[in-house]
Amino acid sequence: MVTDARSVLQRCDELARCSEEAGRLTRRFGTPALAQARDLVAGWMREAGLHPRVDAVGNLLGARGDGPRLLLGSHLDTVIDAGRYDGPLGVLCAIAVAERLRDRPLEVAGFADEEGVRFGTAYLGSALLAGRFDPAWLDRTDADGVPLRSLVGDIAVPPRADLIGYAEVHIEQGPVLEALDRPVGVVTAIAGQTRARVTFTGRAAHAGTTPMDLRSDALVAAAAWVLEVHALARATPGLVATVGELRVEPGAGNVVPGRVVASLDVRHAEDAVREHAVEQLLAAVEGEVLQANGAVACDDSGFPADLPRLASGAGHDAVMLSAVCPVSMLFVRSPGGISHHPDEAVREADVAVALDTLTAFVEARC
Ligand code: GLV
Ligand code: MN
Ligand code: MN
Repeated sequence: MVTDARSVLQRCDELARCSEEAGRLTRRFGTPALAQARDLVAGWMREAGLHPRVDAVGNLLGARGDGPRLLLGSHLDTVIDAGRYDGPLGVLCAIAVAERLRDRPLEVAGFADEEGVRFGTAYLGSALLAGRFDPAWLDRTDADGVPLRSLVGDIAVPPRADLIGYAEVHIEQGPVLEALDRPVGVVTAIAGQTRARVTFTGRAAHAGTTPMDLRSDALVAAAAWVLEVHALARATPGLVATVGELRVEPGAGNVVPGRVVASLDVRHAEDAVREHAVEQLLAAVEGEVLQANGAVACDDSGFPADLPRLASGAGHDAVMLSAVCPVSMLFVRSPGGISHHPDEAVREADVAVALDTLTAFVEARC
């Protein structure tokens, strides 16, 4: 029986061993490492009296009981060189609460893709449950040319109509709760987010023989644009904008870059500000919006009034689930505010508070 914080954290450690790469944690959508993590978690679901199944996109869903039910959970995929709590902590807290409340009908999800690292589109997992999986996404390919279509089954499934709510525990991934000296906080809203891809086309040439004034260097153009992205975000209150990925082609030290493909991630609590920024940043370049989601309000009514309230700058599966049911989120303090980094951490005592808070939330709902 795993119902206490220490055991949840031990499971986080165990899960962190399921990785695509030796020596660091990387577990992207559609990989054997994710399947291995799913198998491990499915076993823990069974121990908690849940019946696990895997759906068409690779979400792990463990349910019990009939009829309308509350969905708990988070995601099992990670970023590259990740910490071990972003996602897994929420899945494992949900299973621990399911174990504590063995008589309640509920369902726990371990979503297959919240990060969107592999195909540039976040929430592939929860989108399926919410009826928001866009069939056009199937034509996407990853950096190695593997089509998304080859990794999923039949996505023609109706949105879930049986969910009375979705509740997720997640690390805060920021400094607010630490500054307040509080172990957990309730999320009021999740910022909107746009992800895009921008291509810079120059002309590949010999690095030794091509004079500087006769070059068309795609990376130089991309670099100037990256600085523009940074400057616009700095000049716009509340806006965050990131170029986290650059693919330089052909990618050799002695060849002038002929083509660069860059990612763009733009977020703001107000949709109009984000949309305007994206328009500005894509105005003079060859860009394609891969995904845009508006800000989402969370239902904080099931949590005690004396817990602090805060907004989330990070994206969560709750964004997708909000299309089919009220969504609620509980953040756990992130020491140092560190996340998307192997130093990501949580305190056992804070996780204990999160477990008790989620238990009370579920008890009051079903
Ligand atoms: C997920 O962690 C995101 O906010 O990108
Ligand atoms: Mn996450
Ligand atoms: Mn993340």
